[in-house]
Amino acid sequence: MADQDNTHTADAGAYALELVDLRKSFGKTEIIRGTTLAVKPGERVAIIGPNGAGKSTLFNLISGRFAPTSGEIRLNGARIDGLKPYEINRRGLSRSFQVSNLFTRLSVFENVRCAVLWSLGYRYAFWKFLADLRDANDRAEEIIEMIHLDKRRDVLAMNLTYAEQRALEIGITIAGGSNVVLLDEPTAGMSKSETKRFVQLIREVTAGRTLLTVEHDMGVVFGLADRIAVLVYGEVIAFDTPEAVRADARVKEAYLGSVLADQQAAAAGVGAAAPATAGQGA
Ligand SMILES: Nc1ncnc2c1ncn2[C@@H]1O[C@H](COP(=O)(O)OP(=O)(O)OP(=O)(O)O)[C@@H](O)[C@H]1O
Ligand SMILES: [Mg+2]
Repeated sequence: MADQDNTHTADAGAYALELVDLRKSFGKTEIIRGTTLAVKPGERVAIIGPNGAGKSTLFNLISGRFAPTSGEIRLNGARIDGLKPYEINRRGLSRSFQVSNLFTRLSVFENVRCAVLWSLGYRYAFWKFLADLRDANDRAEEIIEMIHLDKRRDVLAMNLTYAEQRALEIGITIAGGSNVVLLDEPTAGMSKSETKRFVQLIREVTAGRTLLTVEHDMGVVFGLADRIAVLVYGEVIAFDTPEAVRADARVKEAYLGSVLADQQAAAAGVGAAAPATAGQGA
């Protein structure tokens, strides 16, 4: 439904998302220090790096929550830096938050329908909006099926399990039909088996879209990402395929060596339990 509105085919650049020498300071401290990154349409990119590296800040810049101190952000070829979050969302980018963002006293269905209506509300005149109510309901039902919560449709968000709440958040994030999706630590706090199922869910709901995900679990990173961006102290020190990043001496030294050793020690296989480095409260 909304996809047509979000695809600027005429002036679309070669990239879904581009960051050009992006910088952000809080007071005197520069947190994002000249990040340049170009993500192709349909690509799945994992952003990894130590706690406090600036991963969430980067998402806050891209989604318009913070204005960059300098640099450019392009979405489907068009500048979005300096726009408000809803304007950026309207242009086809949506994000989930590291901390929960649900209406806890509304049901699964109501949460998703709110998100669908919200996205429609900014795109259509009010009479059209009313005419589209039925469409919105249908779309909400579709999304609920997609996130496998159809049997939990009428349960209040507060009564869902933790993993179900995270699934609902993903549903809300994609409800408006955005073609670029940012997920901040979507599997944080999940068990190994929940994580495994959730990665599959992320694959399904983001199929055909561009995905940027912040992730501490290396099993998830290497299983999900086409390319990995390694952010250390506000700088991208590597942006390459999982194999190349894994072999990168600089990455090993700065981050990956110790994290991989920790996670291999903690558990073998995909979806190791959240490591000590996983920040869940930021
Ligand atoms: N609004 C703010 N005002 C001042 N400093 C901030 C603000 N937001 C973030 N910071 C600082 O910026 C740095 C990067 O924080 P950020 O949350 O982006 O890191 P992160 O890579 O997401 O870390 P984590 O892995 O723990 O989630 C931290 O030192 C943090 O204290
Ligand atoms: Mg963070």
